[in-house]
Amino acid sequence: MPTIRFVREGRDVKCSVGANLRQIALREDLGLYGLKGNLGNCGGCGQCITCFVEVLGGNSPDALSPLTEVELAKLKRRPKSWRLACQVIVNSSVIILTRPQAPLSNSRKLIAAATNAPLPD
Ligand code: FES
Repeated sequence: MPTIRFVREGRDVKCSVGANLRQIALREDLGLYGLKGNLGNCGGCGQCITCFVEVLGGNSPDALSPLTEVELAKLKRRPKSWRLACQVIVNSSVIILTRPQAPLSNSRKLIAAATNAPLPD
């Protein structure tokens, strides 16, 4: 059972293999969206580009599903480590930063702690 380590929220969340990252974040009430996404989002069909996450690591290069055609189109000008949560299927444990576009106080310290701690399989 994969673990998703949510750095901003300081939480490790278990999920089933094949779970959708957006649905997990919403289920756990993790604040996936910023103001714009909270005011209105596409419901997970890949059109609003408000569900950004940054992938900071994982137990496998295939921890997440490959970029979808939607992501290839919508993330052209974003860092390579960014994904759209609604397009992501979780295969194994990963480390995720929600809302990477929003400032995170003491981000270096939090990210270092999250990436240095062992990640359960
Ligand atoms: S929820 Fe709209 S693009 Fe992901």
